Order: sequence, then structure tokens, then C-alpha cells
Amino acid sequence: MDRRDFAKQTLGSLLTFSFLQTILESTALAESVRPIAAKWLAEINQMSLDLKGQKLKQLDWQSHVEALFQQVDLAEFLTYVDFAKLTKEIRFREQGESSFKASFPLVEGLPTELVFGHQMFALGKGRSVVPHGHENMATAFLVLQGEFAGKHYDRLEDDKKFMIIKPTIDRKFLPGEYSTVSDHRDNVHWFKATAGPGFIFNIHVLNVDPTIKKSGRVYVDPEGEKLSGGRIKADKLRPVDAFKKFG
Ligand SMILES: [Fe+2]
Repeated sequence: MDRRDFAKQTLGSLLTFSFLQTILESTALAESVRPIAAKWLAEINQMSLDLKGQKLKQLDWQSHVEALFQQVDLAEFLTYVDFAKLTKEIRFREQGESSFKASFPLVEGLPTELVFGHQMFALGKGRSVVPHGHENMATAFLVLQGEFAGKHYDRLEDDKKFMIIKPTIDRKFLPGEYSTVSDHRDNVHWFKATAGPGFIFNIHVLNVDPTIKKSGRVYVDPEGEKLSGGRIKADKLRPVDAFKKFG
């Protein structure tokens, strides 16, 4: 996948779309709101088609995703989703999140080969999607249920052993609320479930720039040495240590 393909697939639309589709295809949605959800799907799909071929930069993708979410009252929609039913197979982990994949059926008018990964995260109260940055990757979180403390940081500088980060977002995230991450904005995030169980829908695009080999998570410790101007020296962590300290 290259930047052009990334743009063509209009991931912003697809994030909302894939979530709604996932829910619609499960039996977890109240009958009464199925027609409303179907209408949203049609509208979002049309937006995807209209946007196809445009070139989106990562920053534009982030604002685009956010604008799309604002057009749908997800918070209200989520009250109609039976999460107990949708997630009855889920086993919560003692540290961090467990991830599961809802079925993703083929939909007419959408690309058959998806350029992004999608999954749901389930977390018991007090558990975290532990703090991490991202290499060559764009991702979006949508809170489905529960209550999260969501912290984000810009990644200003990199060393082999640490990165210099600066807080950007630090607030409560409720169902229907979302945030996006890219190489250029809010690169580090950390979500702690303050009320559980917590569920997050996620899509992620790896290898945004195909000329760079690396793509994925880098675990860090945002509780490191405080520097001038609100900056923090955040040591890079092995996954096992990140889960031990923050999971
Ligand atoms: Fe992430």
C-alpha cells in the first residue's frame, strides 16, 4: 500500500462504516434501529465513493475521520447495541487489552481488499491499552462502552532508548468519542478503562510509507523525567515491562 492507495481507500469513512457494518451484521443491534443504521451506512458509503481518488495527507486523514464521526450520533446509537451479546465469548485479560475481530462481510460498493486492520479491544476496569507510540502507522480508536482516561502525546524527538514527548490530549472518553493517531500528530496514546467493562473499536493502517520497512507499536513510559516546556523524556519499554507497569 502506498500513500495514494491510503488516500483512495478513504479510511475515515471506512472506520465509521466498518464499525456500523460489524454491528449491523451481528445480531446485537435492536431491531428498531436497524433501518437508521442502514441509512447511515449508505450515506457513509456514498461519501467514500465521492472522495475516492483524492489525495489525503495523514493530518488530513485525522481531521477527516473526526469530521465524519461528528455527523453520526454514535453515543445514542451505541445505547442500542447489546454489548453483552456481542462480546459474550470474550475473556478479559489480567493485563492490558484482549482483542477480538468481529466478522467483516463483503459489501457492494466497497473495496474487497481492505488496506486497514480492524478489531475490538475489551478491557476490564482498571486495565489499559498501555502507552505506546507508532511507527509509520495511522490508527483510530472509537470508544464503544465503558469510560476511559485517554492520554495522547506528540512525539517530538527520538533516541534509541527514549523519545521526547509532549502531552496533547488528557481527558475522559465516553462511548461515541474517538481519537486518531499518525506519525505527525498525537503519535503516542494510552487508554485506561476507568469504568468497565470497556470496549474500543480500532482500525489501523500499517506501512503508510512503503519505503520505510518498520511499522507498528513502540511502548514507552510517559511517566519519565519532566523536561522544560511540558516535555517528557519517555523511555522505550519492552512489551513485557509496559504491560507490567501500565497494563
Ligand atoms: Fe495504538
